[in-house]
Amino acid sequence: MHGETRTDKLSGDVNAAAAALRAGRLVAFPTETVYGLGADAANDDAVAAIFAAKRRPRFNPLIAHVADAAAAERLATFSDKARKLAAAFWPGPLTLVLPRAAECPVSLLASAGLDTIALRVPAHPLARELLRAFGGPVAAPSANVSGRLSPTEAEHVAESELAADVFLILDGGECAVGVESTIIGFDDEGRATLLRPGGIARAEIERVIDAPLITPLETGAPAAPGQLTSHYAPRARLRLNADEPQAGEMYLAFGPAAPQGVPGLNLSPAGDLKEAAANLFAYLRILDDTGVDMIAVAPVPHEGLGEAINDRLTRAAAPREENP
Ligand code: TXA
Ligand code: MG
Repeated sequence: MHGETRTDKLSGDVNAAAAALRAGRLVAFPTETVYGLGADAANDDAVAAIFAAKRRPRFNPLIAHVADAAAAERLATFSDKARKLAAAFWPGPLTLVLPRAAECPVSLLASAGLDTIALRVPAHPLARELLRAFGGPVAAPSANVSGRLSPTEAEHVAESELAADVFLILDGGECAVGVESTIIGFDDEGRATLLRPGGIARAEIERVIDAPLITPLETGAPAAPGQLTSHYAPRARLRLNADEPQAGEMYLAFGPAAPQGVPGLNLSPAGDLKEAAANLFAYLRILDDTGVDMIAVAPVPHEGLGEAINDRLTRAAAPREENP
């Protein structure tokens, strides 16, 4: 169950949100992937407040959001390959991890001691308006308490424990993509590396760089520090690759062949992975809120956005500390 719902914090006022960021406050805002918990990225205290509100380990760096690629180029050193990816996918659900520029104004806290910075130009119209009105980089992780389900509606943020720490929540409706951005880094030889599967499918990126993406797990290179094993977790436990629910379980189905007449929801009755990604976190929340102990989840194909969906499901199902 969630705490009290702070609907009084829902707002459509972008200028008020930009003023709050300038004053060092936290503002939740919609992106096309999930809602972000934003702060002035150049303000150490404001960035520290993000870590406190999320109860996020300080070693886990944040993404800096900017209005366009020109603003991103002022914060980091772009290789030709990075520029190509930015041109193809920004604005959109792509995050690039690049060497910080010497004069980069983003708080070192946001980079968690790394000499790189994660950059993203979101596509959601309200996010773009906010970034333009604010005029500087906005540090923003997903607007959930660390380790829990990511919010894909303003109400998810309003219901969460971190609502009390947020000055206002810009309400932009449901997030169209529903899983976080794809994070791409570069290894010592400049090869593109998939640090987190997300809203842009691996194949789309490989088409643009005309080479296979390196997967850190294959090479032993470090993944994004935030890819802790247990993450994105509802209160209920998850049982993956289940062809049907057992007695007492709720079923998160996928596709047209799903068993009929069982309690639960279907991520996409048509078997569309984009639709399934958009519904993933919201449906897990709904099933969790029934108070059930176990959610059985249908197998989801590993192609396209299925890679990101399976990544989130695997982490949500991973062994974890007791959740309150
Ligand atoms: O779609 C998204 O990316 C959303 C929206 C709000 O933009 N944001 C998001 O942020 O998912 P967060 O903090 O939940 O996840 C950011 C991930 C973490 O796994 C973090 O470790 C990784 O990005 N990251 C950030 N900076 C990094 C860096 N310099 N090197 C490697 N990984 C980095
Ligand atoms: Mg997150």
